[in-house]
Amino acid sequence: MISLGIEGTAEKTGVGIVDDEGNILGMAGKQLFPEKGGIHPRIAAEHHANWIPQLIPQAVEEAGISYDDIDLISFSQGPGLGPALRIVATSARTLALSLNKPIIGVNHCIGHVEIGKLDTGAVNPVSLYVSGGNSQVIAFESGRYRIFGETLDIAIGNCLDHFGRETGLGHPGGPVIEKLAKSGSYIDLPYVVKGMDFSFSGLLSAALREHEKGTAIEDICYSLQETAFAMLVEVTERALSHTQKDEVMLCGGVSANTRLREMLNTMAVEHGAKFYMPQMKLCGDNGVMIAWLGLLMHKQFGPMDIKDTGIIQR
Ligand code: KG4
Repeated sequence: MISLGIEGTAEKTGVGIVDDEGNILGMAGKQLFPEKGGIHPRIAAEHHANWIPQLIPQAVEEAGISYDDIDLISFSQGPGLGPALRIVATSARTLALSLNKPIIGVNHCIGHVEIGKLDTGAVNPVSLYVSGGNSQVIAFESGRYRIFGETLDIAIGNCLDHFGRETGLGHPGGPVIEKLAKSGSYIDLPYVVKGMDFSFSGLLSAALREHEKGTAIEDICYSLQETAFAMLVEVTERALSHTQKDEVMLCGGVSANTRLREMLNTMAVEHGAKFYMPQMKLCGDNGVMIAWLGLLMHKQFGPMDIKDTGIIQR
């Protein structure tokens, strides 16, 4: 069975093709870089509308298949930016109807977890999924995926990107902050973990206030990373203890950060758990993870009625 997946929950448009043995046959993507400010939902939607029709034939050509060989159309149904999700759902429906193939909508966050498992060989991990739009600790327990902890406000990637934009470091902020942090030292910033959840908006405001006061940017970047990542690791650690699992997986675009990897790995090792991280090209948003999760869900539950393919915001 061959599945074609379409991703477009935020600023990345992706199309991926996989078979039921987990072979990645085709992968095409295009990222939107906003000229100024953050991601505007309407601009992201326009980006997807422009690129999906170009990326589909590109992925099909790379896979060396014909459209007839595709057995399933999968798409990211949510969570994400409303206008962006609508373009993805409409494109998927159009393709499914024109090829007369079944369609399935999948959860974007679980897509990250399942492609991570496929790529790393992890069987049943506690996953820390960190990106521009989401920050969640997810694990499969008692027959379904459950969110053990998540952000109470903005995502960690959003926090880093916002700080980067406001301080003139550019977008995305994450990679620049990581570089500057290497020569910084620690200053006190608010550490907010409430129960199993974390919050980044107060941390962001405090970091911006430090910048206004003239504190060295390297010190703020270092402390922003150390504080935010410690919060993420603490909640992952609690979920690990609670579930008694022996695998920890890091996924999502913020996984690119070597300091976060190091901190999470240290925590996992202290608990006798194995640490996993998918290859970087599968960590960020991509169509392959959507194609793969669609295939798994189709095997388990069969296709969706096209009437059920409305977008899901959470
Ligand atoms: O999953 P992803 O590719 O897509 C979205 O959620 O849109 O994640 C993108 C996020 C951005 O916030 C970016 O700043 C962050 O990943 N990121 C990093 C690094 N590289 C990318 N954050 C911290 N350190 C990095 N090296």
